[in-house]
Amino acid sequence: MSSTIASSSTAPVIVVFGAGPGLGASIARRFGKEGFRVALVGRRQAPLNELAVALKADSVEAAPFTADLSDPAQVPALIANIRERFGRIDVVEYGPASAGEQGFTPATQLDAAALEKSTRFLLLTPVEIVRAVLPELTERGTGAILVTHGMSAAIAMPFLSGTGPAMSAMRNYIYSLNGELKDTGVYAGTLTIGALIVREDAASNETFPDDAEAAGAFPTVHPDVLADLYWDMYTQRDAAERTYPESLPTA
Ligand SMILES: NC(=O)c1ccc[n+]([C@@H]2O[C@H](COP(=O)([O-])OP(=O)(O)OC[C@H]3O[C@@H](n4cnc5c(N)ncnc54)[C@H](OP(=O)(O)O)[C@@H]3O)[C@@H](O)[C@H]2O)c1
Repeated sequence: MSSTIASSSTAPVIVVFGAGPGLGASIARRFGKEGFRVALVGRRQAPLNELAVALKADSVEAAPFTADLSDPAQVPALIANIRERFGRIDVVEYGPASAGEQGFTPATQLDAAALEKSTRFLLLTPVEIVRAVLPELTERGTGAILVTHGMSAAIAMPFLSGTGPAMSAMRNYIYSLNGELKDTGVYAGTLTIGALIVREDAASNETFPDDAEAAGAFPTVHPDVLADLYWDMYTQRDAAERTYPESLPTA
């Protein structure tokens, strides 16, 4: 697709849920380069505005939408706002993250309150998003649902619980969804990342302080590499899951 269709009202639309300076921005740029218009979702208006302006400079049409994704009840209005602005939704990528809010908890210290919080954010809201967009995608017979996970979604490790139980449930759901949608033209897949995402702007490398501490033990990856991986997943549609690195470190 050429970048000229980025301004067309029939150009496809990707919604980046968690459009921060790391992977979110890279996905917006990667799909934008392929002709997608981009809906940027986060809680803070200012960084979303800045990213939308930066994308515009690269000839990508983008618009900011504020919402708190820890509240699944906000999904219907959010999706309605995006549809009102862009007229359609073709791809959703769910990968919000925030420094200090989704840290790891030792399993011995996990309680129902913490688990309820991570479950709302990492399972209930993305399931509601799928419910909200799936009829449009299946009716058209195209599009994709992409969900980003950290390594503890796939590999349980001592002291790295907290988000893991909720993410592993979402990963399980994506596997089922992938199989159920196989003959519909709609793709569902998850990218599981066993690496610390680093970017040129060191000040923005704060999303995962726990990971940063463990950086010596984990590989690192630029978010553009992961965005390329997502583009491959979107175009090739050959697996319910890809991982980075290709072989995840073992527990
Ligand atoms: N960073 C890593 O090293 C790493 C490692 C493994 C896996 N991952 C996964 O990769 C994905 C992207 O991570 P990233 O660090 O590159 O993030 P990012 O794309 O730089 O930023 C994600 C954005 O999510 C938004 N967000 C957080 N909580 C939210 C909420 N309740 N409602 C709406 N938006 C919210 C934040 O903006 P606001 O604060 O404005 O809401 C933040 O800017 C995540 O799924 C993460 O779990 C990251």
